[in-house]
Amino acid sequence: MMILPPASRIEVADLPVPPPHAGEVDAVLIPADQLQERIHELARKITADYAGRDTVIVALLSGTVMFLADLMRRLEFPLRLDFMGVSSYGSGTESGQLVYTKELKLSIRGRHVLVVDDILDTGKTLRSVTAKLSELGPASLKTCVLLDKPERRTGQFEADYIGFEIPNLFVVGYGLDYDERYRNLPFVGVLKPHVYSEPTCV
Ligand code: PRP
Repeated sequence: MMILPPASRIEVADLPVPPPHAGEVDAVLIPADQLQERIHELARKITADYAGRDTVIVALLSGTVMFLADLMRRLEFPLRLDFMGVSSYGSGTESGQLVYTKELKLSIRGRHVLVVDDILDTGKTLRSVTAKLSELGPASLKTCVLLDKPERRTGQFEADYIGFEIPNLFVVGYGLDYDERYRNLPFVGVLKPHVYSEPTCV
């Protein structure tokens, strides 16, 4: 059986912030090349685990877009892709009420489901999504997250495949947003506190 190297705990290193983002980003937490290396490892393990199974990848909108695109192109087995829209409408940096904005199009009954998301924070989103999906009769149900912030967890939940364990910092980039901004950054960075302590418009 193939072993996935455990998710390494990332700490802020002294990496230069690219000039266009230096005003709003305090530090680079995970540079682009390190993201790609780890995603490659995850993809090899997922390919080994799922090859030959009738698989549906369920990706959660919107933060997962970059991770999903880089992961999926490396999965070397036939699969189906579907999306669920789920957003936590909170104030500022705090997560709030969960709202489903898009339901599944495909049937997952009797199929092996892998839910892909960008970050596991309080765990509220994945606890709700996995409870909802398990009622639809999948053959198996697992979760894959790029980032895991275990200090923020408000209830029991662990993902099956984890890219990186990160400290309790407000991170953006590589799909993750603050007020719908910063998703396009090619790295995961730490937002400067002045950005989220000042009022903004979406
Ligand atoms: C973010 C992120 C996860 C969720 C994690 O989604 O994409 O789905 O929060 O937080 P939790 O573990 O505390 O539930 P968000 O609601 O911000 O939507 P987005 O993906 O569109 O940014």
